[in-house]
Amino acid sequence: MIRRELLGSLESSGTKTGDGKAGSTAKAREAEAASGKAVSAERRERQVRPGATIGVLGGGQLGRMMALAGSNLGYRFIALDPTPESPCGQVAEQIVAGYGDKEAARELAKRADVITYEFENVDAEVAALLEQQSYVPQGSRLLYTTQHRLREKRAVEAAGARVAPYAEIGSEEELREAVRRLGLPAVLKTATGGYDGKGQWVIRSDEEIGPAYAELSRAGTELVLEQFIPFVKELSVIAARSPHGEISTFPVAENIHVDNILHLSIVPARVQETVLREAERLAARIAESMEAVGLLAVEMFLTENGELFVNELAPRPHNSGHYTMEACATSQFEQHVRAVCNLPLGDPALRTPVVMVNVLGEHLDAVKEAVVTGRWGAEAEGGADPAGFRVIPKVHLYGKNGSAPKRKMGHVNLLCGDVQDGLDFIQQTNIWRNQNS
Ligand SMILES: Nc1ncnc2c1ncn2[C@@H]1O[C@H](COP(=O)(O)OP(=O)(O)O)[C@@H](O)[C@H]1O
Ligand SMILES: [Mg+2]
Repeated sequence: MIRRELLGSLESSGTKTGDGKAGSTAKAREAEAASGKAVSAERRERQVRPGATIGVLGGGQLGRMMALAGSNLGYRFIALDPTPESPCGQVAEQIVAGYGDKEAARELAKRADVITYEFENVDAEVAALLEQQSYVPQGSRLLYTTQHRLREKRAVEAAGARVAPYAEIGSEEELREAVRRLGLPAVLKTATGGYDGKGQWVIRSDEEIGPAYAELSRAGTELVLEQFIPFVKELSVIAARSPHGEISTFPVAENIHVDNILHLSIVPARVQETVLREAERLAARIAESMEAVGLLAVEMFLTENGELFVNELAPRPHNSGHYTMEACATSQFEQHVRAVCNLPLGDPALRTPVVMVNVLGEHLDAVKEAVVTGRWGAEAEGGADPAGFRVIPKVHLYGKNGSAPKRKMGHVNLLCGDVQDGLDFIQQTNIWRNQNS
C-alpha cells in the first residue's frame, strides 16, 4: 500500500525535458499523473548527456569522488553542503547551506539538470521538493526505504533474501519479550540515523535490557532488535541499476571493521566461489526488486555453514567500494554517474587483487609523509627493487578541514599480486599498528 502510494507520487513528479532544462509545468505534471505508464516509460528512456550539471546533496568524500569520476565523462557538478570548502566543493561548485534549507534546495534544483545524493538521511520534505522541481532519477522511494532499518529489512525479505531474525521494539516490555523470543546476544539498533556502529547496543545479558533501552530510546526513533549473527566474514556487494533496468554488480568485498569503522576491504574476498556468486546474485536481486536506480551497496554476514544474511543497504557509493577506483575497469563512482544518467553501465571487472585500507585522522600524518617521501616503512619500500615490487599503493585524501581521531580522512588502495601481500604491507608500514588486520 505504502509502496503503491509512493510509486504514484514518484510517477507524478515533475520531469524536465531535453537536456534537462526545467520544462515541467503543473499542467504537464497532471497529464503525467494521469498516464502513469507512459511517464514511467519516458523515465526509463530518459538520458542525461555529458555537459549537463549533476547536483549532489552532500559535499563529503563520496560527492568529491563522484564529481572527479563524472567530470571525466564531461559532466559538471554542484554540491549542497553546510561546510564551506567541503571535500566536493573543492573540486566542484558548491551551495553552502544546510541540507534541510528549502531555499538552497530550490537553488540546487534550478542550477542542476539532475540530482543525486551521497547520504541516505535526506530530509523527506527536501526530497519531495527536489523531485517536484528537478529530475531525481533515484526517486524518493529508495531513500524512504533505506533510511529506516525496518522498512529496509522488509524490502530485503520481499526480494527473497534473508535478514537476521528481528523484532520491532516500541517499549521496554516489548524488548524483554523480543529478547525471550530471539535469545541473547542480540543487537538493539535505532531504526534511523545510525552509522559506524553508533545507535547500537549489543545486549549480552538480561541485566543490560533496561540500560540499553534507556540509552537508545533517547534518540526518539523506533528501535529494532536483531538476533546476533555469529558471522565468519562480513561481505559487501555494490550493485548498480539504471532507469532502463540494466544491472551490474562489482566483485564481492571482504570487509574488516575495527571499532565498528571499516578498516579494510579485501578483494577478491577469501571465500568459496559459490559464496561469491550467491552474494552477487542476492545484491542484483535486491536492486531489481526495489527498482533501485544508481548504486545500491549491500552489506552481508557470512556464517560458518555458508549462509548469507543481509545486514544493511546504502543507496549510494559505499566505503567498501573504494577499492574499485584503481582495481576495477570502472569505478563505483563512474558507475553511479552512468546509472543515474541512464548511460550504458561500465565493465566492473577486477583487474588486480587489492586491499583498501582507510586513513583515519590518527593515520593521516604518516600517510602524508609516505606520499611525500615515497617510503612506507622500513620493510615496505615498494618500488625500490622492481623485481620485489609486489604492492602499489594508490593514495586518496579527501581534503577535509580538521582531522580528528576516527574521522575518515582518506584511503589507500594497495594493488597487489595477491591480497596477502597487501595485508603484509599494511603490517610492515606500522601506520595502522594496533589494528588487527
Ligand atoms: N545482527 C548482528 N549480528 C552480528 N553483528 C552485527 C549485527 N548487526 C551489526 N553487527 C556488527 O556491527 C556493525 C555495524 O552494524 P550496521 O548495522 O552495519 O550499522 P552501521 O554500519 O550503520 O553502523 C556490523 O558491520 C557488524 O560488524
Ligand atoms: Mg554497516
